[in-house]
Amino acid sequence: MIGMNSTTTILDGKAVSQQVLDACAQRVGKITQQTGVTPCLATVLVGEDPASVTYVRMKRKRCEAVGMKSVKIEMSADTTTRQLVEKITQLSQDPAIHGILLQHPVPKQIDERQAFEAIAPEKDVDGVTIHSFGTTAFNLPGYGSCTPAGIMRLLEAYNVSIAGSHGVVIGRSPILGKPMAMMLLAADATVTICHSKTRDLPRLVQQADIVVAAVGRPEFVKGDWIKQGAVVVDAGYNAGNVGDVAFDAAAERAGMITPVPGGVGPMTIATLIDQTSIAAARQLGLAIE
Ligand SMILES: NC(=O)c1ccc[n+]([C@@H]2O[C@H](COP(=O)([O-])OP(=O)(O)OC[C@H]3O[C@@H](n4cnc5c(N)ncnc54)[C@H](OP(=O)(O)O)[C@@H]3O)[C@@H](O)[C@H]2O)c1
Repeated sequence: MIGMNSTTTILDGKAVSQQVLDACAQRVGKITQQTGVTPCLATVLVGEDPASVTYVRMKRKRCEAVGMKSVKIEMSADTTTRQLVEKITQLSQDPAIHGILLQHPVPKQIDERQAFEAIAPEKDVDGVTIHSFGTTAFNLPGYGSCTPAGIMRLLEAYNVSIAGSHGVVIGRSPILGKPMAMMLLAADATVTICHSKTRDLPRLVQQADIVVAAVGRPEFVKGDWIKQGAVVVDAGYNAGNVGDVAFDAAAERAGMITPVPGGVGPMTIATLIDQTSIAAARQLGLAIE
């Protein structure tokens, strides 16, 4: 790739996610064989946002690829909070459903937090509830928010040494930046969380051993903000397959960097699928392998 340092490692989320999915397919096979039950993910999509339609389709496809079922719930763009909460509550109570994904974002009239909180904790395989955030923050077993949890797996797959490092997370959304910071902290990083009111962001990023960009602005993080040899994780996914990091310039300095696409995105989906199979095993009383 242009300008890339010859020693820069590309963190290949596509390859690592395939390993996660392969292991998951084995678990699903065992669950089905031992219980006669096929694990099932319910996907809930409100409205017809094209990006969300694509994400849900990809998630359902991966479900089927590992031998799980998925149930598709589509609700109109004018759905109310109450209608959505009722639907999610029904799914939470349905023993045939093992995991629930409410595709984010929902239309503006809906209180998204209230809708997320209708997901039963044991079915929160996307890790979006306050309960799941709490277990993440307390480093207890549970379901991590899929994007940061997928990032942690990717770092682990490349033996990135996190303990004692300085992690700088740019973004503090409830399902990305905040849980990301908690996961890095649980792995013994020293963590700085940055947001839109942060002063002198470039100076903070320059101190980072690990940078996670979760801003939602194309090529927001510049190459000269990156410390030589740093690990750069780009969670951003903007129109035209563009991340939140200026890739070419950042890759010249980074020791490791995620591509967009093919970095964080596939890890997010694989984590969702994996957590669904784990949730099914737990709900069916099986030990998890
Ligand atoms: N690959 C995946 O699977 C995946 C999954 C989810 C999201 N994403 C992508 O990740 C990105 C972030 O998503 P999100 O849901 O976390 O977005 P979000 O809810 O819009 O949050 C963006 C965060 O960035 C911060 N921010 C905005 N402008 C900033 C600035 N100038 N300087 C520093 N911080 C700034 C905001 O700060 P304030 O809190 O102060 O407003 C906020 O905390 C998007 O590109 C999204 O598409 C990817």
